[in-house]
Amino acid sequence: MHVYGEHYRTIWMKEDNPNVVQIIDQRHLPHKFVVENLVTVDDVSAAIKDMHVRGAGLIGATAGFGMYIAALNAPADSFMESLAADGEKLKATRPTAVNLAWAVERQLDAVGAVTGDVHTKIQTARETAQAIADEDADFCRRIGEHGLAIIKKISQRKNGAPVNILTHCNAGWLAFVDYGSATAPMYAAHDKGIKIHVWVDETRPRNQGARLTAWELGQHGVPHTLIADNVGGHLMQHGLVDLVITGSDRTTYTGDVGNKIGTYLKALAAYDNGVPFYTALPSSTFDWMMRDGIKEMPIEQRDSTEVKYIRGKVNGEIKQVLLTPKDSPAANYAFDVTPSRLVTGLITERGICEASEEGVLGLYPEKRKKDVNNDQ
Ligand code: MRU
Repeated sequence: MHVYGEHYRTIWMKEDNPNVVQIIDQRHLPHKFVVENLVTVDDVSAAIKDMHVRGAGLIGATAGFGMYIAALNAPADSFMESLAADGEKLKATRPTAVNLAWAVERQLDAVGAVTGDVHTKIQTARETAQAIADEDADFCRRIGEHGLAIIKKISQRKNGAPVNILTHCNAGWLAFVDYGSATAPMYAAHDKGIKIHVWVDETRPRNQGARLTAWELGQHGVPHTLIADNVGGHLMQHGLVDLVITGSDRTTYTGDVGNKIGTYLKALAAYDNGVPFYTALPSSTFDWMMRDGIKEMPIEQRDSTEVKYIRGKVNGEIKQVLLTPKDSPAANYAFDVTPSRLVTGLITERGICEASEEGVLGLYPEKRKKDVNNDQ
């Protein structure tokens, strides 16, 4: 996507030094555009844990590049052991987005299958990291094409009046390598000249909607309005939302959607008001082993300072200020699970399906045979 008119991905190998991986450090957005170099596995772990990068697809792509960096630094006499240990370190950074473990395992499988020398193994890790990133971008582009059909239909029904889409958190290109999942259909529609308007939930406590989604939609010229997190239900009651599209950090093969905290409440309000609620996700975000999202999904709990303090620009400087009584305890659950019955459909790179075991496995029949049935 474009930043001040120039094309960017969220992660890439440095042009003149392939031993360095570069990311957009999202902690500084929307006020500053900062590119950060990652050269060690500790750099990569910190970038994921402290959310320089975030969002399921980008966490996966960063872990993929992290494993390439791990391969560059692994001793020849214990190469695979060292790689596996670094993989565990990366997996421990954030628990909910399943793309993280998926990317680490994909790298271990790919490198483990190489019979050649260390140089060949490193080359494989590099190619696999790039393949994970390229695939992420391509899958999101395809999600956009499939989701476009939903927006087009609503636009026709409204005789071309703007389609009002509500989204939560940032499942935009900043959460992936390019295009985004929830935003891909929005960008596709906007680029085709279909009028849309996006309601952007601010998404407390880290304000990914206010800081990131608003910024990236603005960069692409998509009309949008920021709203506080509690506004969606009111808008839906008054016919001001035609469609909800969110992303996901982990979706069970039965269609339960794990996503940023607050998504469940939006789904309840959408259900009560007959507003279609779609989740857009690439196949790397499905958990092919997990049946019951509410009982089984690991929900990250982050530091209470994220709830008690807020960061913003004060007289040109980025500052953090205390919002609450200093000694009040605060809980910081980062994700919740929306049960499949509240989800109208899942928009994937292969098409749109019902949020159910039949729907999901109908699109991914190879998972029906190999992973799901055999592992139960
Ligand atoms: O904590 P984050 O910013 O990594 O969480 C991201 C989300 O939960 C987004 O809502 C998104 O839908 C999932 S990432 C595509």
